[in-house]
Amino acid sequence: MARVDAPALYELRRRVLRGNDPAKSVADPRDAAPTTLHFGGYLDGVLVVSATFLLAPSPTHEGPAYQLRYMATDVAVQGRGYASAVMATAIAALRERGAHQLWANARDSALGFYVKTGWRVLEGSEHLSPETQLPHTVIVMDLAPTP
Ligand SMILES: CC(C)(COP(=O)(O)OP(=O)(O)OC[C@H]1O[C@@H](n2cnc3c(N)ncnc32)[C@H](O)[C@@H]1OP(=O)(O)O)[C@@H](O)C(=O)NCCC(=O)NCCS
Repeated sequence: MARVDAPALYELRRRVLRGNDPAKSVADPRDAAPTTLHFGGYLDGVLVVSATFLLAPSPTHEGPAYQLRYMATDVAVQGRGYASAVMATAIAALRERGAHQLWANARDSALGFYVKTGWRVLEGSEHLSPETQLPHTVIVMDLAPTP
């Protein structure tokens, strides 16, 4: 798992998260911000997993926090631990940067994955994503401050 630049992620984001629709947006205006971290994992030289973390205030915590967006594993390799691996790499890097909390608007269909990887659901935060109209719920992960 490695740090990557945003443009390398757009094709995977579109395919996995936007039904491969060329008309849909797959970029966040903060993608190129110096505080944004993108992570990717490769199989035989092809990007198969990606996750983006944006420095953004948490809905529940006042300390430094990062928002996870565009978590995606290529359909052909889902269930093989790629997302868990990229998450572990990202968490280690974000802890090092002093993050106190991670948060995300998670697709309800992926909540099982997030709970298994240490996130908790914010009760009462269920909503429809304005971008996709899919059911989402806010999830958070508290990170111990670096000593
Ligand atoms: C959700 C997603 C990123 C998980 O990626 P993945 O590489 O398949 O995940 P992993 O293989 O690391 O799975 C880790 C664990 O979570 C479980 N898991 C994965 N996806 C799950 C899901 N949708 N629901 C419940 N459990 C899930 C796995 O079974 C595995 O459990 P185990 O440790 O007991 O074997 C992937 O399924 C995906 O891209 N889905 C479509 C896009 C999406 O919904 N992204 C999230 C947007 S918020």
